[in-house]
Amino acid sequence: MTKRFNVAVIGCGIGRSHIVEGYLPHPARFEVVELCDLDEARMNAVGNEFGITGRSKDFDALLARPDIDIIDICTPPALHREMILKSLAAGKHVVCEKPLVGSLKQVDEIIEAEGNARGRLMPIYQYRYGDGAMQAKRIVDAGLAGKPYAGSVETFWKRTADYYDNPWRGRWRTELGGVLMTHAIHNHDLATFLMGPIARVFARTATRVNAIEVEDCVSASFAMESGALVSATATLGSQDEISRLRLHFENVTFESGTEAYSPGDGPWRILPANDGIAERIGEVLENWEPVGRRFEGQMKAFHDALLAGDPPPVTSRDARRSLELVSAIYHSAETGADVALPIGQTHPKYESWQPQG
Ligand SMILES: NC(=O)c1ccc[n+]([C@@H]2O[C@H](COP(=O)([O-])OP(=O)(O)OC[C@H]3O[C@@H](n4cnc5c(N)ncnc54)[C@H](O)[C@@H]3O)[C@@H](O)[C@H]2O)c1
Repeated sequence: MTKRFNVAVIGCGIGRSHIVEGYLPHPARFEVVELCDLDEARMNAVGNEFGITGRSKDFDALLARPDIDIIDICTPPALHREMILKSLAAGKHVVCEKPLVGSLKQVDEIIEAEGNARGRLMPIYQYRYGDGAMQAKRIVDAGLAGKPYAGSVETFWKRTADYYDNPWRGRWRTELGGVLMTHAIHNHDLATFLMGPIARVFARTATRVNAIEVEDCVSASFAMESGALVSATATLGSQDEISRLRLHFENVTFESGTEAYSPGDGPWRILPANDGIAERIGEVLENWEPVGRRFEGQMKAFHDALLAGDPPPVTSRDARRSLELVSAIYHSAETGADVALPIGQTHPKYESWQPQG
């Protein structure tokens, strides 16, 4: 018998996918006991679909419920900070969608609150979960890939006016960013997951596809701490949708598939430099246990970590690194500077990455 955690899902948009992909496949690990959404019709539709009878519009009231172990926050970005802080203060474990919060200052505040809390906080970065990405990670972690050389990350998606017919999207104040912050954030996280931390960033952004405040095209160049170079391009104006990473190391080239929303899926193309490397990769991947794709893999790993008393499989420090890159890209695009990481408290983008004024 394992421990089953009771979950309340707050926000029934992507929250529905957390239920379908993340919780229902693990009935011995999780039970979604409560939905919370201000849109009653939407909440009832999801509740009826999955037989979830607990439904509420009152987030604060849920926090007082001792039978709820995990608060899963799937509300619009600008609401995350307050909901995370309240949930941690109530002693709950927390899962929260990206972006975790709206600035590096807020992430640091959250990290501090988490340090004093009973519950653990797991930001969502589900693109890491899939056999392709995780096999590449195992090869890198085993020391087999060798020196990182260069790579490319493509986020070529399509969003039209109907997508922006939602009051929080397309605006700095409520979406907190555009294609960089909302969409490409996953693929950029995956690139650093595999190639390591970034040292410097140069970038340009543009708004060309939709009539919105925030950017919908990005071109960026990263110098990694290792010395490797990575280029990242993103647009919401592609006529078909793909995500793709191609990462070149001394001993191996990795190429993801092109599924826009699950580039972590296996198999990836793994091209070894020679037969010896191929053999060692074969050994490292022998007896591979499927990890579960997207939310299925991430939620299962969260359960394992909670049971073991380990840090969550994706941490608030991972979210900080991801939002630091967002801040650096916006700063470079605004000023033309080649921005050095890390971004500390005295940096102009520490308190907000949004354009001044
Ligand atoms: N990981 C991913 O792949 C992924 C995909 C889509 C969205 N997201 C993120 O998930 C979050 C939500 O996005 P979405 O597309 O589901 O948005 P959405 O607008 O479709 O859904 C948000 C829901 O939250 C509800 N809500 C708003 N305020 C609330 C409150 N105070 N209490 C309870 N419910 C409230 C709304 O009524 C709405 O139903 C965003 O941060 C977004 O960036 C992540």
